[in-house]
Amino acid sequence: MRILIIGSGGREHALAWKLSQSPAVSQIYVTPGNGGTSAWINAGIDAADIDGLMKYIREKRIDFVVPGGETSLVHGIADACRGVGVPCFGPDSYAAQLEGSKIFAKEVMIEAGVPTARYQVFTEFSQAAKSVKKAGVPVVIKADGLAAGKGVVVAANSAEAVEALDSMMCKKSLGGAAARVLVEETLQGEEVSLLAFCDGEKAVPLSSAQDHKRAFDGDTGPNTGGMGAYSPAPLLPDDKAAEVCEQVITPVLRVMQKRGHPFKGILYAGLMYTPNGPMVLEYNVRFGDPECQPLLMRLESDLLKIMQACVAGDLGSVDITFSPKHALCVVVAASGYPGAYSKGNPIYGIAEAEAASNGNVMVFHAGTRNDNGQTVSNGGRVLGVTGLGADLAEAQKNAYAAADAIKMPNSFFRRDIGAKGLNHCWACSGKK
Ligand code: AMP
Ligand code: GLY
Repeated sequence: MRILIIGSGGREHALAWKLSQSPAVSQIYVTPGNGGTSAWINAGIDAADIDGLMKYIREKRIDFVVPGGETSLVHGIADACRGVGVPCFGPDSYAAQLEGSKIFAKEVMIEAGVPTARYQVFTEFSQAAKSVKKAGVPVVIKADGLAAGKGVVVAANSAEAVEALDSMMCKKSLGGAAARVLVEETLQGEEVSLLAFCDGEKAVPLSSAQDHKRAFDGDTGPNTGGMGAYSPAPLLPDDKAAEVCEQVITPVLRVMQKRGHPFKGILYAGLMYTPNGPMVLEYNVRFGDPECQPLLMRLESDLLKIMQACVAGDLGSVDITFSPKHALCVVVAASGYPGAYSKGNPIYGIAEAEAASNGNVMVFHAGTRNDNGQTVSNGGRVLGVTGLGADLAEAQKNAYAAADAIKMPNSFFRRDIGAKGLNHCWACSGKK
């Protein structure tokens, strides 16, 4: 089978690596791809260019399409594929609004009875500002539409909230994404991600994962796409995942099915563990990046078979097994990220770091390109160095040994990925 993966991050490299292990796969194409995915065939087409993607799918006689990020899904790649009878692992553009519109997601959550923070919607700055001044407590300001990770401000006080509203609604810092804005109650707790394979009706949870969204150690600095992740997250052990899936994923599948848009693909719930139990902060309609890397390192089953079963509505028929090992991914980023950064920095020692790990480390490329045989940086998040281990401490040790061995000028990574998990003692076999 010929597979097309859409995207260019560490997630897409991990998807290509894992799918290449499926015996039924004969060729993998990745678009636009990166230096790591150039081991297969990279195509230069942008994820938002649905016409260009469909032309490529026809030309290369692609048998199965795997969108990595949300862009192509929100733009309707699954709808276009269905129109020409090519299976696509992901929701149609209507169901992709679960990620594309935070207001749509809230309305579905309320209909489905999923626990989430209280919120109000505003289109006028003056009314929104009046409301946050009256509320007087910490609030979260969210742009309704996609804003490349910049659409959420957790404001400590009403002055910060009004500033965020002014930037989004008056200065239009996010363009049309903030035509409607949510003002949301702030939830307290620890965050964890629960992803589920969905076939329209049935959901099967993956093992849990925890992302690290802030740029610097100790969860400080600006929000990023994710600076590291590990799986499983002790906050949500595997024997609890099915129960939480019933609370936060399955009810959404019922609503989407009732609306005539059964959800197929990955539904990802970003959860806050509050004293009242897990509450949903957001949905994504695809694998998280970098959560995908540790999750796929631990997945023992044939990923293509699972994806095909999701599309066919037959998830009950496939094996979905995760290794009891732990996995941890450290993102190596360009200095300056998530702000301005330089590109074209040479990267040395990737193959050596993998070779020294006895098969316990995979270095997934994110923002890289291949420059006459030399891998150079080409983005903000550059590499996802992912280690496996018998417990979280060992996975952490393996990932950091490799990250330390890789040399790239003008780069940095967080030193504390996994630290929160190690504080939950079961994760390290009783040792603190
Ligand atoms: P989102 O894109 O909705 O997941 O928001 C990005 C980040 O903002 C989340 O990972 C949380 O850290 C934070 N956040 C979002 N909503 C809330 C909330 N209601 N209370 C506290 N933190 C939040
Ligand atoms: N790591 C968070 C995301 O993929 O949205």
